[in-house]
Amino acid sequence: MALPSSLNLAASQIQAYNLDDLRSCARRVLPKGLFQYVDRGTENESALRTIKASHESIMLRPRVLRGVSDRSMHTQFFGQASQMPLAIAPTGAAGLLWFDGEIEMARAAKHMGVPFILSTTSIVSLERVAAEAGGNLWFQLYMWPDRELSMELVDRVKAAGYETLMITADTPVAPNREYNRHNGFTLPMRISHRNALDVALHPQWFLKVFAKYLLRSGVPSLENYPASLRTSLRQSQTPLKSEALNWDDVKYLRQKWTGPLIIKGILRADDAQRALDCGVDGVVVSNHGGRNLDASLPPLIALPEIIDKVGSHMTVFVDGGFNRGGDVVKALAMGAHGVLAGRGPLWGLASDGEAGTRLALQIYKDEIDRVMAYVGARTLADLDRDLLYIAPLSISNQSRSIE
Ligand code: GLV
Repeated sequence: MALPSSLNLAASQIQAYNLDDLRSCARRVLPKGLFQYVDRGTENESALRTIKASHESIMLRPRVLRGVSDRSMHTQFFGQASQMPLAIAPTGAAGLLWFDGEIEMARAAKHMGVPFILSTTSIVSLERVAAEAGGNLWFQLYMWPDRELSMELVDRVKAAGYETLMITADTPVAPNREYNRHNGFTLPMRISHRNALDVALHPQWFLKVFAKYLLRSGVPSLENYPASLRTSLRQSQTPLKSEALNWDDVKYLRQKWTGPLIIKGILRADDAQRALDCGVDGVVVSNHGGRNLDASLPPLIALPEIIDKVGSHMTVFVDGGFNRGGDVVKALAMGAHGVLAGRGPLWGLASDGEAGTRLALQIYKDEIDRVMAYVGARTLADLDRDLLYIAPLSISNQSRSIE
């Protein structure tokens, strides 16, 4: 019998029974500005509330007496085995939460047998992640306004051996995250009079993460950015995004990238169809974790029409607020092929590096497994829409407590 996650000493000594426990731990150890960068949404944080409401509006209608002693959640993404229907989502600056954090996360993903998706805005370079962690590595691409530089980046991604390329489509301009400005938080992170007290109140983080970078190579930067872009980055204090990105770029990338190609940030069936028409292999139904367009539709609400349109022709992932395995099961029952988890693994990383990330993944696994048993599913093929009851959305006005 598997040990409960919190007793699995090989994974982590952290006392965490669920992802919210890991979130509390991350909140204790990280400077507030950094914790909130990971945790929060944008503007009024309506999107965070509607994501939560959409998860809660879906209920499961269990099938009983199905003999579920022999369960498996194994699956495949693009011909590669995955131990569960989940991948670690690309998230900016994970390396600020733990020294060489992206390497630790990729190692955890490899250990747990799931894909790790590295962000363009990682602290550790894509080459080091490939060389020092390996595993089933995918790369998330933010196109820069300078197309040539972006294509050079794609060449590096290919040369380093990444299997799959994921283009982010939902961020034509920098999001309006006012809390970052209140907190004096920028990416790359700088320590200034605006956040010095916040950093001083978290000396362990400063010594174990920031100071280690300072001693090794200087202020942590976005290592995938070429030197010319790092200068613009220093001036603008926000990673550059391409407002001009369009479907012709997708067609061009389709010709250039021979491996699986995914578009992340789709919320409409007609856009998913367009991606399919361009020869794209998968989409991520996503509103960027509620971090960009505050009035956007929650991904779980957009998911069924997208599955109905393209689900039998391409791989459909979904992300946003999947902090319980039961919510993953709901998305799979709707027809999604996999879920991307962003904040959960980051909270694990901040709590205990690779071991904490493994613990986060193990928690997802235990919870998915338990809910599969409850609904009478022995394999993922047993999850279908007849298991779901979908109630109208009821959105609470209550903000989460994040102070
Ligand atoms: C990056 O993708 C972010 O959401 O900050």
